[in-house]
Amino acid sequence: MTLESQMIIIFGATGDLTRRKLLPALYHLERKQRLTACTPVICIGRKALSKQQFVEKLEIERFIPDGDTQVIQNLLNRIEYLQFDLEEGAPEDFKKSIDALQRQHSCTANKLIYLALPTTAFKQTASLIGTLESDAGWRRVVFEKPFGEDLESAKSLDANIRTVLHEEEIYRVDHYLGKELVQNILTLRFANEIFTGSWGKQAIDHVQITVAETLGVEKRAGYYDRSGAVRDMIQNHLLQLLSFVAMEPPTEEGTDGLRDEAAAVVNTLRELQTSDIVLGQYGSGLVQSETVPGYTDEEGVDDNSTTETYAAIRAFVDTDRWRDVPFYLRTGKRLKHRHADIKIVFRQRQHHIVGKDSKPNMIIIRIQPNEGMALAFNVQKPGEDDETTSVMMDFCHHCHFGPNTPEAYESILRNVMEGDHSMFPRRDWIEASWKYVDRLRAIADLPVRYSAGSDGPVEADDLIKRDGRVWLNEEPANEKITLASFG
Ligand code: BG6
Repeated sequence: MTLESQMIIIFGATGDLTRRKLLPALYHLERKQRLTACTPVICIGRKALSKQQFVEKLEIERFIPDGDTQVIQNLLNRIEYLQFDLEEGAPEDFKKSIDALQRQHSCTANKLIYLALPTTAFKQTASLIGTLESDAGWRRVVFEKPFGEDLESAKSLDANIRTVLHEEEIYRVDHYLGKELVQNILTLRFANEIFTGSWGKQAIDHVQITVAETLGVEKRAGYYDRSGAVRDMIQNHLLQLLSFVAMEPPTEEGTDGLRDEAAAVVNTLRELQTSDIVLGQYGSGLVQSETVPGYTDEEGVDDNSTTETYAAIRAFVDTDRWRDVPFYLRTGKRLKHRHADIKIVFRQRQHHIVGKDSKPNMIIIRIQPNEGMALAFNVQKPGEDDETTSVMMDFCHHCHFGPNTPEAYESILRNVMEGDHSMFPRRDWIEASWKYVDRLRAIADLPVRYSAGSDGPVEADDLIKRDGRVWLNEEPANEKITLASFG
């Protein structure tokens, strides 16, 4: 099904996000013939460049490897480069240029405006966006994170935005919500009766949510050193994952039902204590056979920086469903492996009729890599009626559906183009998450050291061991049954 005709306007088009994420996402929509003939892509940048020069900068072959030449050409035909200085340029001139492009492409007045810029640059674009309001078509504006850097700044940013936009025109991106396996948390929970009855404290012992990265700060020290893992990852991606796991089934239809329940989760998070938090900072070490410097030796990082590159917390959702079930969240840079997953660990049941060595059931949602889900359960060992062993039923997403799963940004763009807000955090969710994270930052001890290439600081192991549990770095299965093998 094709999407509505619309003009896509990208501010900050010469930046990395455009070439790495937005254009590849548009490429896939082009390939699937979802874009109408009247969907020009207007790329705005400050530099004086011809279209040809701009296109060269996009390094299409690098970011869309194995792209189909004809599809790439069709996409390039949609692109226009518009030079405009956000600080100096006059809003009337901007409007004139956009109107001219609209006529040139015989477009509708619908406009998808993507701010591929830090949200702090919003002020400079507000008056320009203001000129693009029109009764003849809709206007949708997409914001990238970080949405503020604490509760106060998030509120003031929001107040600024609302001087030119209505809530239904605003899309705040958390790219984790565009990931296929994150969206599948909801399907797993709400389309599978076998899990519905056991989703809560009566059956679930605890939940582990991990987003581990092998990368360091790369070239983003300027941003990262001010932000740190808590603001960069916990405030948004990890708390979103927690919200999806813990939310009540939305009763109201439409996007607000889902967003109401997500907000209710962060609003019922129990106040953290210092002992619930471990922050870390990487020292030098060996990551996947490469020796890497410690955080404070990275280019652009202050020698005395106390910014955390790792954070682990023990959170509680104070609702009837989850009271006293710990949610252990952790994320860090320069860890041993790159993986993002959620492990739902069930209570251990022993029954005299079966062997004593049964293990807790577990659902693993593998967000990346090896996207899929797995279920660990106990079976009898062959020929040993008093011994059990844990096996794994494993669903591999690409084995089953093939390699064409949309990347997060393709889903994000498609959702905006369809006017679907469900996978975009709402203002109340963002404010509640900042409130939680502001307290976290205020009471946390200074980061402890961990070696690059490790699983994180030992103090984070203690955080969970104290409760008699361990981080599950490896899957406990000793056997795999793939669903594909069932035909
Ligand atoms: C971003 C963070 O939001 O998410 C980065 O700013 C982080 O620091 C990235 O590396 C991780 O995203 P993904 O999709 O690679 O897991």
